Amino acid sequence: MVIEKIISIPYKEFENKSELDEQERILAETAINAAHKAYSPYSKFCVGAAVLLENGEIVIGSNQENAAYPSGLCAERVALFYAGTKYGNIAPKTMAIVALVGDELIDQPVTPCGACRQVFAEVEKRYSKPFSLLLIGKEKIVKLDKSGYLLPLAFNSF
Ligand code: THU
Repeated sequence: MVIEKIISIPYKEFENKSELDEQERILAETAINAAHKAYSPYSKFCVGAAVLLENGEIVIGSNQENAAYPSGLCAERVALFYAGTKYGNIAPKTMAIVALVGDELIDQPVTPCGACRQVFAEVEKRYSKPFSLLLIGKEKIVKLDKSGYLLPLAFNSF
């Protein structure tokens, strides 16, 4: 017997930053500052991530590119790997992600790539705790309560 199943994911959309709480706004601003530290001479796309940890610390990352393209790394993974290095036993609570074009926040929020989603899944598994995502654009902000929503049926799901 064939059973068709449909997966849907919940997320919230906000029109602007004033609808976020104070801590989320600080995280968004921190991610914007991090994006200014991107090294992206090839794509000219500057991405910043700010991760709020359960201990209240914020750890940042920005995309770091390389002439041998696959050697570069996305902002999200730079931030999470840095968090793992600095505070190895402390789970992330929320990650804000932004992208700049030139010096301007991009209109629509950037959505993390597949490799970053795979890393999110493992971080949630490692700490047995989901963390939320804030994808910040000028025209729209998207909030997901669990990063894992972005990778349904991840490796070893059943
Ligand atoms: N990038 C990120 O850092 N995060 C994303 O979510 C999307 C893509 C980087 C990779 C590359 O340096 C540049 O953005 C263009 O794809």
